[in-house]
Amino acid sequence: MTATAVLSVASEIYPLIKTGGLADVAGALPAALAREDVVIRTLLPGYPAVMSKLESAEPARAYPSLFGGPANVLAGRAAGLDLFVVEAPHLFDRIGNPYLGPDGRDWGDNALRFAALARVGADLGKGAIPGYTPDIVHAHDWQAALAPVYLHYDGGPRPKTVLTIHNLAFQGHFPGSILHAIGLPPRAMSIDGVEYFHGVGYLKGGLQFADRITTVSPTYAREILTSDFGMALDGLLRARASDVEGIVNGIDDTVWNPATDAALAVNYSALRIDMRVRNKAALQQRFGLTVAAQAPLFGVVSRLTHQKGLDLLLEELPDVVARGGQLALLGSGEKPLEDGFRAAAAAHPGSIACIFGYDEGLSHLLQAGVDFVLVPSRFEPCGLTQLYGLRYGATPIVARVGGLADTVIDANDAALSAGVATGVQFAPPSTPALAYALKRAFALYADDAAMRRTRLNGMRADVSWRGPAKRYAALYRALARSEQ
Ligand code: ADP
Ligand code: GLC
Repeated sequence: MTATAVLSVASEIYPLIKTGGLADVAGALPAALAREDVVIRTLLPGYPAVMSKLESAEPARAYPSLFGGPANVLAGRAAGLDLFVVEAPHLFDRIGNPYLGPDGRDWGDNALRFAALARVGADLGKGAIPGYTPDIVHAHDWQAALAPVYLHYDGGPRPKTVLTIHNLAFQGHFPGSILHAIGLPPRAMSIDGVEYFHGVGYLKGGLQFADRITTVSPTYAREILTSDFGMALDGLLRARASDVEGIVNGIDDTVWNPATDAALAVNYSALRIDMRVRNKAALQQRFGLTVAAQAPLFGVVSRLTHQKGLDLLLEELPDVVARGGQLALLGSGEKPLEDGFRAAAAAHPGSIACIFGYDEGLSHLLQAGVDFVLVPSRFEPCGLTQLYGLRYGATPIVARVGGLADTVIDANDAALSAGVATGVQFAPPSTPALAYALKRAFALYADDAAMRRTRLNGMRADVSWRGPAKRYAALYRALARSEQ
């Protein structure tokens, strides 16, 4: 059996550049799939953070002009990843967040920037680099979603395509006037093409033309076929339902391993779970919380956006404090949410503390120190922080949506008596339901044996990439074998 070659096209990848879970997934897939005889190379934009870490870069293809300036595709490695990088200074030589300018708004030319990424992905898919012809082009999210669109309109022989939806809330919707600038033919501007609410929809186009569509959990795969979760794309997704599959994310357990993690105050494993209390103390100290081993400590690591449902938590905080609980929040995002948590911290010093910003190391210490990690999302395609929580013995409290529904076993009476509970779930995403979940969490915490069992169950749950990698490998193989 020969290995299956996959070109993964992504706009971020851990550890080079990360704004969220997409980076973790794009970064972990290559090693996970290598065990399944799938060889993944990843195509990335040449942001400064990527260019500066690229080792042994070789020019592999030149573009005299790529949407407004010269560009090169470099082949190289960084952080153990095999990469192709689009070196296009006019599009990507910008420091900081990959999508937003210094004013916090989307770059005005994002349509061109990510069309360029997809254009190169399509070209590489068709063998533009001598000696490299992938069987599959795998595009992630709207930023790469035009790759299957270009392959369709180019005509001629092409590789098979997979598009993964990491988050339907981000769709890449631009004015119709860009069609020409991104090199699509006028006929693409139709309901069966990229036309979307009188503009051009990048994700919409990708969903139209990708051979297979995946998303990052089975429950989200079902949810997005409904108008409640489909974000106006549910009709198209329903039309393609037979090509939609949900494959849950795993975690990279070399990066997320409490026994070896250098960001912790003390390393531990399921066998030495009592050592966690030293991370709890270190975390309380770092956040300026009262150092108290007995206080139930809740944690949040999150983008602060409507999706994440943290406004629900804000309402419940006085009650959490009244019951003797503490909250440590690490996050950044929308100002009203930051302001709300800042005010809560000011009102409850020692019990509620927030660190606003992005801090990878601290996110590890937080998972190692908190008793519960809270993820009250309104929708959640997969969610990774509950998986990190499970692995680190931070019991997740989650809304029963998307991947949160698929990865946590609610500590109801049946699960507790069967000894399989790993966390607390609630539904719907509302304050009364969250309040009830918190009440249950306090009761669980007060029951030493049940709490310990739930924590250990979480730590022993298999949240690795092993299972999901087999699903991706099977999908790639079936697709590579199929007729066009
Ligand atoms: P999403 O991709 O929707 O933001 P996920 O749960 O899939 O949600 O992934 C979020 C990733 O970003 C996780 O790796 C999480 O630890 C990380 N993260 C989120 N906010 C922060 C932060 N403020 N500091 C450090 N890491 C963060
Ligand atoms: C998105 C989703 C998140 C998912 C991540 C990686 O950012 O919001 O739920 O875990 O992508 O697939």
